[in-house]
Amino acid sequence: MVPEAPLEDTDCGRAAHGEGWFVLNAREACWRDRGPRGRLCHFEEYPQFLAGVQEVTRVSEEISHWVMDLEGTHAEFDARIITVFAAKGGCGKTTLATNIAIALAAGGARRVGLIDLDLAFGDVAIMLQLVPERSIADAVGLGDQLDETSVRALITPYAPGLDTLLAPAGPAEAERVTQGLVADVLRIARGMFDFLVVDTPPQFTDHVLTALDASHVHVLLTTPDIPALKNLRITLDTFDLLDLPKESRVVVLNRSDAKVGLTASDIERVIRVPIMAHVPSSRDVPVSINRGVPIMVDNPQHPVSKAIRDFALGRLTGPTVGEQSFRGLRALLNRNR
Ligand SMILES: Nc1ncnc2c1ncn2[C@@H]1O[C@H](COP(=O)(O)OP(=O)(O)O)[C@@H](O)[C@H]1O
Ligand SMILES: [Mg+2]
Repeated sequence: MVPEAPLEDTDCGRAAHGEGWFVLNAREACWRDRGPRGRLCHFEEYPQFLAGVQEVTRVSEEISHWVMDLEGTHAEFDARIITVFAAKGGCGKTTLATNIAIALAAGGARRVGLIDLDLAFGDVAIMLQLVPERSIADAVGLGDQLDETSVRALITPYAPGLDTLLAPAGPAEAERVTQGLVADVLRIARGMFDFLVVDTPPQFTDHVLTALDASHVHVLLTTPDIPALKNLRITLDTFDLLDLPKESRVVVLNRSDAKVGLTASDIERVIRVPIMAHVPSSRDVPVSINRGVPIMVDNPQHPVSKAIRDFALGRLTGPTVGEQSFRGLRALLNRNR
């Protein structure tokens, strides 16, 4: 006899605990295609439920290999894609993206790809003191020939476990990078890494929309000042319009202790979502950037490094919402075996 799997409430919604059967009321289910990520279903208190999944193999504690087949479209991927976004420049996107990538790579414990999608004015190379000899623009024109070998040839390694895909050297080259190329690079790179961290420009460009749609986690950054908060509120509304899942959004307050007259609860009232992580303000951050050594490398015990590392390891690793929901699906499938 297959046992009943009790449902439990988790941070990411309701999930079946263990394997077994359970009953769902899918009467008002609303299905939406999300390309290679399969199909999402919102119903009852379930945030999302995936279909089209053929096989999920756990590669490690945190990473699963997914094989999906959706009406003839075959997709396989491992990497969790994390896009760091803020609609206002200077919030600390590149600072956060680079330091998150270093924290996740943990000296080679994980394979992390850091992609600079701020194509015209990317700062990843300068922040990591890398020479941008290769960039995503070198893949322009490869068309159908773009594969893992050609994506590997675009990579600039930074440290054990951390490879970067840098932005082109100037805006003219950046203009040649199409939305389709970004989608292809992300599709191929997700099979090469455990995590992909995507840094972005402060606008909803087509490239950014492509990355947001492919991402499992959206790290939305703000600083404690009214223009940044206003832009974050507009960003959240835009995410709703774009139908990007609410469960994927993680709001981070950078420079959280800056004495500017706004408390964390004032901020949460304005943006109407909880802040998931606070990164303190410190002059050591610009000092480290000016030296070309990220603070996570320069001083791993610094309060800024610690806040970013705790956030990266505590919030960005572990099962995703999709994987949580998948447990329920697997329980259902097992029942039918
Ligand atoms: N926690 C922090 N404390 C102090 N300065 C910071 C902090 N985070 C970012 N900065 C500074 O803010 C500036 C903008 O950061 P950056 O990461 O380039 O922002 P963005 O990519 O969003 O434009 C940089 O000069 C950086 O030194
Ligand atoms: Mg930047």
